[in-house]
Amino acid sequence: MKGNIAIIGAQWGDEGKGKIVDFLTNKDTNYVVRYQGGHNAGHTLVVNEKKIVLHVLPSGILHDNVTAVIANGVVLSPVHFINEIEMLQKHNYDVRNRIIISQSCHLIFCYHIAMDIARENQYGKYSIGTTKCGIGPAYEDKIARRGLRVGDLRDWDFFSRRLEDNVNYYNHQLINFYHVSGVNYKSIINEMILIKDVLIKISDDTSKILEDAKYNNKLIIFEGAQGTLLDIDHGIYPYVTSSNSVSGGICTGCGIGPSNITNVLGVFKSYSTRVGSGPFPTEVFGDLDAYFCNKGNEFGSTTGRRRRTGWLDTVLLKKSVQLNSFSKLCLTKLDVLDDLEDIKICIGYRYNNSDFKYDRIPFCHKDWKMIEPVYETLHGWQENTVGITNFNDLPVLAKKFIFRIEKILGVFINIISTGPNRNDTIIRSI
Ligand code: IMP
Repeated sequence: MKGNIAIIGAQWGDEGKGKIVDFLTNKDTNYVVRYQGGHNAGHTLVVNEKKIVLHVLPSGILHDNVTAVIANGVVLSPVHFINEIEMLQKHNYDVRNRIIISQSCHLIFCYHIAMDIARENQYGKYSIGTTKCGIGPAYEDKIARRGLRVGDLRDWDFFSRRLEDNVNYYNHQLINFYHVSGVNYKSIINEMILIKDVLIKISDDTSKILEDAKYNNKLIIFEGAQGTLLDIDHGIYPYVTSSNSVSGGICTGCGIGPSNITNVLGVFKSYSTRVGSGPFPTEVFGDLDAYFCNKGNEFGSTTGRRRRTGWLDTVLLKKSVQLNSFSKLCLTKLDVLDDLEDIKICIGYRYNNSDFKYDRIPFCHKDWKMIEPVYETLHGWQENTVGITNFNDLPVLAKKFIFRIEKILGVFINIISTGPNRNDTIIRSI
């Protein structure tokens, strides 16, 4: 693939982007960039039989020629960040000299996490089902212009004063409104005293670095977190995350223009999953759900929660193609369908039991409840595809499934993942 690549989740996250970023990162890749979200993401990589889960560091960091960039659109938990670096050290990956953080990254503190938990508990059965990492409250602070950024650590007086104001502000809400314990200013400050020099040392103007990369012909991979349907503007609101997970988020989240993105690769699974609450038209239950969950190992890598599972929904995928301008697609977890006699693809919705099939996405809660998926059923191939690396070696019916999706979406599927290992991958063309 020539030029810079954006790798974006086309569904609700957990499409296997981490493996694809790791796979596409090669000796010519200079930067791998995270530009939105925070440690709510969970990217699982299997390298030499070793499983490594990354939350805030970009997946390409396991390649030692790569510099990892955490750009301005990310919300960064300093404590989590340091723990992740230490985790990698234990796996013999020394990454400390290969990370640059934007000075404009907003910081996540324990009061954001306390607020996230308190709100979710208060909403009860109407909760969003967040990862409770404090992501929403940290982005709220950014928009409310009371957030603290990595660069603020350079002015310790300002930082400590603003932090104290914020602690007071949140403790008032936590104690008086949510009736839970507040947080302790002193312990946050003490924690930050230990971490601040590391953060200051590796922080820089990442927008400028990425712009310079363009003129020096350096290659960049932009690694999306979460998925398109969780986008704050275009996802199924309010059951979304608090950042722009669509490809457009790269520009604001990195401080670069759209011409810096050459290829937009959408990653989607051969079926659907989501964690947390909210509409899921093709959701399945019972034995089929157990099948997807066990065979696809559908447990959240950030929270350990069992994911909800369902059939592939091409109505939502088509919207995702449009929102992101996908120029290429990658289909993951094809092998999870191996044992199924029949495979369903949702090709439209029927509204309120009518005969009319339409392919629009509902806007309001009421409409989501009124729709029912319309399926097309294909024969399953019922053969093992795990580890296949050549497209021609796939069973005929598996190829038929792939061609059918391409036809519906109007985009070529360039990459197919047939297992969790780096090499369980078919490249048709890139
Ligand atoms: P938050 O991002 O923790 O605020 O959670 C908001 C919604 O996004 C919840 O439904 C989460 O389960 C979901 N979510 C956040 N991060 C991920 C992810 O990396 N994969 C899948 N779902 C996610």
